[in-house]
Amino acid sequence: MHPTAGLLLTFCLSLFASVNAGPYARRKAHSLQNGQDAIALNAKFESLTPTSPCTTDSEVACINDQLARCVRGHFDLIPCDVGLVCRASPKIDSPGMTIGCVKENRNTKRTPATRALHAIRQEDPSQTSLCLDPAVLSTGFENDGQGDTTNPPQVQSQTSSNNWINFCKTVNKPLTNGTQIPGGSCNPAPIGVIPSVDNIPSAKIIFPPNFETLAKNSTFTIKVAVNNLETGWATNSNTTFLSAPVVVNANGDVMGHSHVVAELLTGFGQTTPTNPKLFAFFKRLELPAVNGVLSTNVTGGLPAGHYRLAVIHSGANHQPIAAPVAQRGAMGDMVYFTVI
Ligand SMILES: *[C@@H]1O[C@H](CO)[C@@H](O)[C@H](O)[C@H]1NC(C)=O
Ligand SMILES: *[C@@H]1O[C@H](CO)[C@@H](O)[C@H](O)[C@H]1NC(C)=O
Ligand SMILES: *[C@@H]1O[C@H](CO)[C@@H](O)[C@H](O)[C@H]1NC(C)=O
Ligand SMILES: *[C@@H]1O[C@H](CO)[C@@H](O)[C@H](O)[C@H]1NC(C)=O
Repeated sequence: MHPTAGLLLTFCLSLFASVNAGPYARRKAHSLQNGQDAIALNAKFESLTPTSPCTTDSEVACINDQLARCVRGHFDLIPCDVGLVCRASPKIDSPGMTIGCVKENRNTKRTPATRALHAIRQEDPSQTSLCLDPAVLSTGFENDGQGDTTNPPQVQSQTSSNNWINFCKTVNKPLTNGTQIPGGSCNPAPIGVIPSVDNIPSAKIIFPPNFETLAKNSTFTIKVAVNNLETGWATNSNTTFLSAPVVVNANGDVMGHSHVVAELLTGFGQTTPTNPKLFAFFKRLELPAVNGVLSTNVTGGLPAGHYRLAVIHSGANHQPIAAPVAQRGAMGDMVYFTVI
């Protein structure tokens, strides 16, 4: 082993050995739990309506951003002051949560609960350390996949014994580093959370329906029904492009957004692959879906021609969304339409 590598390894081991005894570990137990509990409770509150029944007198909840108090089996709603919304927030120094009116930054959608989880992550020394915590070492990555005779011929996988942490040194590419690099790059951020099979996003284009005929240069509204994707999360695509792992909400749905792209075809019988650099219309759908439907206006419409319209889902940082199993349905959707 290279002498520097040995030093680094010793340092990394002692760092992680000392973490468990530190003040962080003592606080971590309840603060992480509080943050996760608050996120789960806020998700539960979202399913409540003003007519939801309640059982325990003076039980408190949040309904439609208002404080709700249980009185004889039904909720009494108490509006929050202007600029405040009702949320469950994690306590910082002791176990538990508070339910009340708080300031929520609607622009970034950071609730007290998600802010607390972010703070907890920053407080954990393993989240700022330049060393790999052995707790996340995937030794399965050392397997090249050979020797399995039940499967059809398949190539040997590349392997890694350090979670590929320095992979980008092995390819002659700039680091993606949060930016969109048209010439290609290498991105060292992990893929992140992979949703369960019951949380794989999917979509269906409502308008235009397949084989619709639209009038040229006339505004129309694209409508897309989405499922299993918590829409409304889109980060700055100039400075935070692919710069963080994918995350999911308390229900296990990826927090991200979707896009629509219309491409001109030579006709519905086109057999040559399309050119992804050329498209007639592209729109990031960064606002939250309304009743499960995303929409955008194509102002001024499109020139005459045959088009393919596709839906592309992504995580908040514009990452592709990975699925937990290889065989599954498509996450996006496509329709074909004519403009005359
Ligand atoms: C990465 O981005 C940061 C922030 O913009 C910049 O300071 C740094 O020089 C960049 N590093 C590389 C290797 O591009
Ligand atoms: C339709 O739009 C195209 C492209 O913007 C333009 O060249 C054309 O003149 C327009 N046609 C009409 C009838 O407005
Ligand atoms: C990204 O940069 C481009 C070009 O500088 C600018 O037009 C665009 O508004 C920026 N987008 C965001 C999300 O900041
Ligand atoms: C589309 O345009 C109409 C009319 O200007 C407007 O009321 C509507 O909010 C727009 N929809 C979207 C999704 O921007």
